[in-house]
This record gives sequence, structure tokens and C-alpha cells, in this order.
Amino acid sequence: MAADPLSPDRLILRRPDDWHVHLRDEAMLAGVANFTARQFARAIVMPNLVPPVTDRAAASAYRARIMAAVDPGLGFTPLMTCYLTDHSDPDEVERGFTEGVFAAAKLYPAHATTNAEHGVSDVSAISAVLERMQKIGMPLLLHGEVTDPSVDIFDREAVFIDRIFSRISADFPGLKTVFEHITTADAVAFVEASGPLVAATITPHHLRINRNAMFEGGIRPHFYCLPVAKRERHRLALRRAAISGSPKFFLGTDSAPHEVGRKESACGCAGLFNAPFAIESYAATFEEEGAIDRLEAFAAEHGPRFYGLPLSDERIVLERVPVTVPAIIATPDAGNLVPFHAGDILPWRFAGLAPA
Ligand code: DOR
Ligand code: ZN
Repeated sequence: MAADPLSPDRLILRRPDDWHVHLRDEAMLAGVANFTARQFARAIVMPNLVPPVTDRAAASAYRARIMAAVDPGLGFTPLMTCYLTDHSDPDEVERGFTEGVFAAAKLYPAHATTNAEHGVSDVSAISAVLERMQKIGMPLLLHGEVTDPSVDIFDREAVFIDRIFSRISADFPGLKTVFEHITTADAVAFVEASGPLVAATITPHHLRINRNAMFEGGIRPHFYCLPVAKRERHRLALRRAAISGSPKFFLGTDSAPHEVGRKESACGCAGLFNAPFAIESYAATFEEEGAIDRLEAFAAEHGPRFYGLPLSDERIVLERVPVTVPAIIATPDAGNLVPFHAGDILPWRFAGLAPA
């Protein structure tokens, strides 16, 4: 990463990738895809559609719909994932990976989150799949929360480590695993203590909000996501991990748009829409931590190295120009969305790709 010598208020960094995003489908896909595609070179696209993306045919068709929604001039590459169910076929998963259709497979514990009802009821149901993934070097992406209703919602990630992740690690020590959107000091410690095959993504919002944000002066549905934000000490642990320089931690926005009425509801959906100002949010956080020089590695190097992919050779420009995040982003056909940081002023502005 370079400060422009002629202008200290410009930063040029390698174009980042988003290692965890929900691009949705149909009108919502058309409304949101370019927000991700304008900033990121690549993105790991979550498969929790209705119906879920469980095989090569569904993933190829979804990839084509994404490419049709994205402005081709942005040079964006979606990386597809396979939604694991109790009935996933190891041969299909392997073919998808070796043919380059799937970059990874996603394990949602059944009923853990949005469209997770077809997820895995018990990890033992997919042991043959995990065995195969370990053998071929295919990454497993984990939604790391237990679904046991007797476990407090704020403890579900920590209990997942004890009951499930530690078992997966013991049974499949050669399996590349990403602990997605971590929210706790426990997860940071687990990832740090694991070998080099275990990594984690960290969202913009979990670096900025703690659980109080959901209840400030009333119920705040636009700060509700899963895993839910935790106590302040956990947020601080995530910040330390993100700026640590450790190659085990990298950018994954978990941008998960829901139309405003589906958020502001008696039973509001989980998910924050952070794609429009994603790199600006991370830049603000890294700068507050005095670590803007570590942003590039977190955003553009650790992820591709973990996945075994080349680094992007493009560059983006950030300018120190205050940017006001709008209260609402209207989509043509999928209603209104409330972006993360709505109404905030962020200090760095994404100014597009640097000329080649
Ligand atoms: O908050 C979330 N929203 N967490 C998830 O795991 C899923 C996502 C969604 O798809 O809406
Ligand atoms: Zn997600």
C-alpha cells in the first residue's frame, strides 16, 4: 500500500476481495450486486437462496445470473459456494471443486439463520463430505453458532467452538476451515490457537458496534444480524485480531440486504447491508486503531493466500474526503434498503480503481 507522494490524503491499495457476501437473487440481486462489484475484485457468494445452491448446475446458473446483474466494466469475479445439507454427495462436491464451479462449501447448522432450514442437522451426517474436502483441499466455511434453543443467543458462537468446531478440527485436522463472521474473543482465541488451516472473516459492523447498538433508545433492527453483536470486550478483541497482521484474519463483509419492511417488523430479518460503504467502514476502523498501513493485507492479501488464489493485480484509490452515508438506498425493483452507517460521515472515500 502506498500513500501517494504527491498527495498524503490519497491511499492506493491492492483491490480488495470480499470473502463472504449475500448477493441474493432476482430483483434484489439486480439492486445490490454492483455495490459489491465496484469495490471488490472477487467475492465468495453465499448459497442460502430459496432453494439453496446445493449442486453444480444451481451454482453455474446462479453465477450466470450474477454476471448478468453486474456491470461488466467493473471486472468482478464471483466465487461460488456449495450449500451443504445432510444429503450432500461427496462426488458432486468434489466435481464442483475440481471443475472450478465451487470455491468452497458452506455449512449452516440447520435453522441457524436466514434460509438455513436445509442446513446440516448433525456434522456426523456429512463426515464423508468433509473427509473428501480435506483430501482435495476444498475450504469449509462455517456459520459458527449452535442452534440449541436452551443456549443463550449471546453464547451460541462460544458453545459452537466447544461442541462442534473442536470436534471438526480433531476429526479433520487437514481440512481448510474458515470461521465466518466471528463475533467473540473466544473465536479469536480459537483461531489463533489453531494451525494455519483455520482462519476467520471479520465484518465491518462487528468491528464497530457492540450489542448495545441494537437497543439504543429503542429496538434498532438495522443492527440485528447473526451471529448477533456481542459485548464491548468482544468487539475490542475483533479489532485487535483484524489489525494484528495475522494472515488468519481477513475481510468478509457478510453484507446481507433485506428490504426495509422486512427489517422493521414484528419479526425482523437478520442481516446488515454494508456493501455500499464497505471499504470505507474498514478504513475508518483501521485508521482509528492507528493501523491504516495494515488494511491492505487484511483486505486484499490474507484471503487469497488462504484460498490459494492469486492476489488481485488491480489497485483502488481511497481519498481523505468525508463521505455521508445516505439514510436509504432505493433499488429499482426490490424496495428500499437501509445501509450500515446510515447518516454517518466516514473519513475515507472510495474513489474507484486506480488507472492501470
Ligand atoms: O445476519 C445474517 N444474515 N446472518 C446470516 O448468517 C445470514 C444472513 C442472511 O442471509 O440474511
Ligand atoms: Zn453470511
